[in-house]
Amino acid sequence: MQSRLLKIGCVGAGFVARFQTTAMKQVRGIELAGVTALQGAAELAAYAGRIGVGNPDVFHTVAEMAKHVDCIAIFAPNYVRVPIMEEIAAAVRAGAELKGVVCEKPLGRNVAEARRLVDLAGSADLRTAYFENQIFMKPIRSQLAQLEPVQMKMGPLSLVRSAEEHGGPHEGWFWDPVRQGGGVLCDMGCHSIAVGWYALTPAGKGISFLQPLSVNAEIALLKWGQQFWRDKLLRERGVDYGETPAEDFATGMITFVNPETGQKVKAQFTNSWMFEKQGLRLFMDGMGPGYAFEVNTLISPLSVFIGDVAAEKLKDAESALEKATASRGLLAVQYNEADLYGYTDENADALQAFTEGKHGMLPWSYGLEITKLVMAAYMSAERKRAIDLTDPLVRQELETYTPLVQQGRGSEILL
Ligand SMILES: NC(=O)c1ccc[n+]([C@@H]2O[C@H](COP(=O)([O-])OP(=O)(O)OC[C@H]3O[C@@H](n4cnc5c(N)ncnc54)[C@H](O)[C@@H]3O)[C@@H](O)[C@H]2O)c1
Repeated sequence: MQSRLLKIGCVGAGFVARFQTTAMKQVRGIELAGVTALQGAAELAAYAGRIGVGNPDVFHTVAEMAKHVDCIAIFAPNYVRVPIMEEIAAAVRAGAELKGVVCEKPLGRNVAEARRLVDLAGSADLRTAYFENQIFMKPIRSQLAQLEPVQMKMGPLSLVRSAEEHGGPHEGWFWDPVRQGGGVLCDMGCHSIAVGWYALTPAGKGISFLQPLSVNAEIALLKWGQQFWRDKLLRERGVDYGETPAEDFATGMITFVNPETGQKVKAQFTNSWMFEKQGLRLFMDGMGPGYAFEVNTLISPLSVFIGDVAAEKLKDAESALEKATASRGLLAVQYNEADLYGYTDENADALQAFTEGKHGMLPWSYGLEITKLVMAAYMSAERKRAIDLTDPLVRQELETYTPLVQQGRGSEILL
């Protein structure tokens, strides 16, 4: 068998770039060959060297890096997606031979931005992979494989509930609704909506087989609008939720139809930045006729105990779990989070697809569909009614819609 090789260059060297570097280490054939970032590039390159995933060069520009890698991965913040992709497309036009381009979630802060990314990639004839890690989670994949024979006999799932929750993001820009694109619905609703849609999809059908009919959602500011937490946010992240708030809680229901049978099925999503437990929790469950599944990432075969005296010496609470909020007591430890959350397998998918000249399993056009569903959820929350996705006028409106929260006008609906 011919060995596959993919040299990746990443734009951005922060939290997710480091996580992805750890994941790349677990995929034979991937090398991190370049890094460019406003901050942290040298540190990320050193980390990659240390763990043996390459000896990436640090580049000053995307254009320069594009000449030395096979694939560029956009791991920079949401508000710089479009200019970065414009640079990548220009580099290809100038002769850079890229096989593909990867983008972290969300593809855009709104539909117009996400569509611009799809168009730019198309104009440069680039293969694309939208990194929605939860679809690649081994627990999700395993339950699908395990339950496929039951599903064939009994029929597909009719309800999936998915949630991603933690105590709040690690960098100030995530909290700023204008730069990030909103609050927790934009940040993490995209994950839960995508994995809900995917888990409901009958075995053997494509990722967009089920057709979205309607979205009904609510958003709220439940914790970080309270004076104590608002002051803490202003002090520590430089964002004033008294002026420009974003939602820290979102929930909703998406109804899909199976175009072959007419069966209606539902995906409920819940996301929060006000989760007062150990750290990040991904929770999914699904109900089929006579069968079910459940995933809870806070359950691990490994736990450790750290008593008060020892905890006084500890600085880094996050060594046990992403977004960990405690450093003492009985702590669940996920020893391979990059794999558990699906980063490893999304990299493996990009490697296989791009070396075969194909789009990833989740092309950017799919990321655009997820952005539409997230925007429909904001629209529903603002208008306090279900959004009918089969209405051509609604679909047209979504193309240019920018949620009030994203405009910095969240106070009109959240306070
Ligand atoms: N899949 C997931 O679960 C997941 C988790 C975290 C973040 N993300 C996504 O990854 C992206 C990055 O998030 P993060 O947590 O790593 O952010 P971060 O703030 O920790 O790091 C951002 C990095 O991008 C660099 N950067 C900023 N502007 C840039 C520019 N114009 N050009 C080049 N580099 C620039 C910064 O210097 C930094 O190195 C976001 O879109 C976020 O939504 C996804």
